[in-house]
Amino acid sequence: MQPITTYSLYFEKEIGDYSFPISPENLYQPLDYFLQLGGKRIRPLLTLMAAEMFGSPKENAIHASLAVELFHNFSLIHDDIMDKAPLRRGKQTVHLKWNDDIAILSGDVLLIKAYQALAKQEPRHIPALLDMFNRTAVEVCEGQQMDMDFESRKQVNIDEYIEMIRLKTSVLLGCALVFGAIVADASEKDRTLIYTFGQNLGIAFQIQDDILDLYGDPEKFGKQIGGDIISNKKTLLLLKALELSQNNSESNVLEMLLIEDHVLKIETAKSMFDTLGVLTYAREQMNFYQDMALSALKEISVSPEMKKTLVELSEYLFQREV
Ligand code: IPE
Ligand code: IPE
Ligand code: MG
Ligand code: MG
Ligand code: MG
Repeated sequence: MQPITTYSLYFEKEIGDYSFPISPENLYQPLDYFLQLGGKRIRPLLTLMAAEMFGSPKENAIHASLAVELFHNFSLIHDDIMDKAPLRRGKQTVHLKWNDDIAILSGDVLLIKAYQALAKQEPRHIPALLDMFNRTAVEVCEGQQMDMDFESRKQVNIDEYIEMIRLKTSVLLGCALVFGAIVADASEKDRTLIYTFGQNLGIAFQIQDDILDLYGDPEKFGKQIGGDIISNKKTLLLLKALELSQNNSESNVLEMLLIEDHVLKIETAKSMFDTLGVLTYAREQMNFYQDMALSALKEISVSPEMKKTLVELSEYLFQREV
């Protein structure tokens, strides 16, 4: 059996046993629904794998891994309201299947459940775990606000974009890994390195999410294709296209942003992006951050053998179509 599968089966069993109260139905049913839709469960696997890499059995990090996945799902329920997204994991989003009020409140309670899960870790680790979790949670909100602010800004530079995705996405991958390191009592130096691994992995991961948002297979991706174009998200593709089209009068990307018909807007964006070659650029950037991640992993003071599962997980991530 592949090592990743071992971790996945273990985590699926644990999250499968996780249950919400029956009532009020409109608070908890959406959470049962959402968590059962699954997803890739990357973040909890990062926690479990990091714990084992640093010499602690994965079972010792289970509550921390659940906390990360619950937090992630909370952030998605709220993100789907903010992004007006109709689909998530191939099914209707919570705010559409129920309504915005329900999605807000069940998201809120899920965030609290994440903290309750974390509190079940060994008491001596709680201060460090909590410090990391709090810092991360605040940063995710900062990144999400930047993402929303950028929708209506004409000028966003690529450094600002990288900082925005670092905050909205990468810090949680870093936190997931550091959780494993804390539970295994890894050294400060190794904690920093595993965090750097997670940050760079997360940046590559979000660039890929931006790519799939437009170029993914609708059958597999599970989210609305072109959602980022519809809402004028400043993705890496769009920012590079804006930059390149400044010197190219034939393709006015700014005009594309004003198209109201969704289908036409997506088609126009795609053909402009093709002409400008921004997909290739985004893929190169993704590979660059993936390589940076792997360099940080190499420096960690455990044997290459112990790093294998994390290397395998990162390879799996970048072959994904969902
Ligand atoms: C979606 O995360 C949000 C991003 C940071 C791109 P995932 O792609 O990990 O979502 P699931 O949990 O697998 O559905
Ligand atoms: C989401 O970024 C990041 C968080 C939920 C914090 P996106 O808005 O790109 O994620 P998807 O594409 O909806 O999964
Ligand atoms: Mg979003
Ligand atoms: Mg979204
Ligand atoms: Mg996205």
